[in-house]
Amino acid sequence: MKNINDFIKMKKNDDPIVMLTAYDYISAKFCEENSVDMILVGDSLGMVVYGEKSTLGVTVDDIIRHCKAVRNGAPETFIIADMPYMSYHLDINTTKQNASRMILEGKADCVKLEGGSDSRIEAIKAIIDCEIPVIGHLGLTPQSIVKFGGFKVQGKMQKQKEEILQQALAVEKAGAFMLVLECIPEELGLSISKELHIPTVGIGAGRYTDGQVLVWHDMLGLSTQNTKFSKVWDNASIAINSSVKGFVSDIRSKQFPEIDHVYYPIEERK
Ligand code: KIV
Repeated sequence: MKNINDFIKMKKNDDPIVMLTAYDYISAKFCEENSVDMILVGDSLGMVVYGEKSTLGVTVDDIIRHCKAVRNGAPETFIIADMPYMSYHLDINTTKQNASRMILEGKADCVKLEGGSDSRIEAIKAIIDCEIPVIGHLGLTPQSIVKFGGFKVQGKMQKQKEEILQQALAVEKAGAFMLVLECIPEELGLSISKELHIPTVGIGAGRYTDGQVLVWHDMLGLSTQNTKFSKVWDNASIAINSSVKGFVSDIRSKQFPEIDHVYYPIEERK
């Protein structure tokens, strides 16, 4: 399993970091079999697995449950547990308790949290103080969509660009070992990646971050919405649709089960 030092080395060597989300045993198994560097059990879970409109309803227990499944499928891969909305926004003790549950119960290797305000910086420091490695997340932070007025590219204006860059520096200074950058202009992705010593991993942050992450369902063409930054290599929805269609049709036409799928078949129906 790669560790934090390996990821820092990868940045130094200009060796791209591959991160992919996964939420269950089988998707994690595919990730490990294909040498994905890091698996993120993201709170995107709420949208792509549970069909909710945002990530806000995801709980600590949800992430822990799915982390366990992912660990079963990927025992040798670095796993990131996403801290859900309001799990690190209250008092420091609650923050520490929630982060430690991700590690002890969920079997994750680190946690990720969104934002770079003063109180988020305090949360990052408190979690690191529990010996838990932290990844930051800036740009379009989905837990702030109400404040942003929807899923919109962030950092287009100079003032916002500077704010995101300052927050990135603060996240690094607080001790985070990696930073996820979501939905920002390519130029900002590049300047933050050049400025920081820790690796950046982008999702819609252009070509010049130190790594890339996508959401499992988006990458497989299983999502209901298209995002500009996503790419589908092989559309799994075509294969799944064809299988479900075949199943339905073969049962209705009495072609399934065939004799090969039957225990101790009889000669003829009496
Ligand atoms: O929850 C998630 O999947 C994420 C990625 C979009 C980075 O945070």
